[in-house]
Amino acid sequence: MRKILLVGNWKMHLNTSQASLLVHRLSERIKIHRDVEVVLAPSMLVLQPLSMQIDRRKFRLAAQNAYYKDEGAFTGEVSFTMLQDLVHYVIIGHSERRHVFGENHRLIRDKVSACVRNGITPILCIGETKDERTAKETSRVLHDQLTSAVSDLTADEVSNMVIAYEPVWAISNGANYATHEIAKPDEVEKAVKVIRHNVYELYGRKASEAVRVLYGGSSNAENARAYLEVPGIDGLLPGGASLNYHEFSTMVDIADKIQSARKDIPDGNE
Ligand code: 13P
Repeated sequence: MRKILLVGNWKMHLNTSQASLLVHRLSERIKIHRDVEVVLAPSMLVLQPLSMQIDRRKFRLAAQNAYYKDEGAFTGEVSFTMLQDLVHYVIIGHSERRHVFGENHRLIRDKVSACVRNGITPILCIGETKDERTAKETSRVLHDQLTSAVSDLTADEVSNMVIAYEPVWAISNGANYATHEIAKPDEVEKAVKVIRHNVYELYGRKASEAVRVLYGGSSNAENARAYLEVPGIDGLLPGGASLNYHEFSTMVDIADKIQSARKDIPDGNE
């Protein structure tokens, strides 16, 4: 049984002391869960101090971005090599990186390859914009983003990675919190099927069953159960909700309850 993975993407929020306070509060609320993996993705600046503060039985760290060259004259960048000892995961291809910072398929592919080369697990984000959804292009967009990003990887490397389905139109940005659309669980289910089918076509059954698929886009304590119960979903990638210790720790509790319930169901193969 795969663990449920909850990744809190703090985006460009929280300075060092605010981040430390949030981790302190989360640590008080979150127990050691064997079947739920809790990952925090703070800003680059905060990774180092948090790596000393976190209880590693409860939390792992992720970076929100990195550059694909291992070192060199690349002002302002941090490489995957530099992150090796600090993080388990790096988020790659987030829609904000694609749309605000103009990252293209090629750059994202190079980042995924550099991530794997440096022994870090990529969390590859893919998802359609509102216009692409209206034009019924979701499957094509997911196919193109996924295929190009993993094209340098082997089947085993793909099996070990994480893919996050993040429909751009469902991501809250603070300003649109009350007005934007929320993805329905059946829509998420369709997208997850498309993703696993693409992995199957490219890398075979084993990889399509092993790869972990997350959902991200306005997930919170209220809707976490509905998304986590979507067949084929292995976890969530909340943004806004991960900044609130009560909200995020409640999501961890929900994930733990779902895992316990799954364990109680006898496995047909046994
Ligand atoms: P929200 O949960 O704030 O919509 O953000 C989702 C996201 O982009 C996580 O990477």
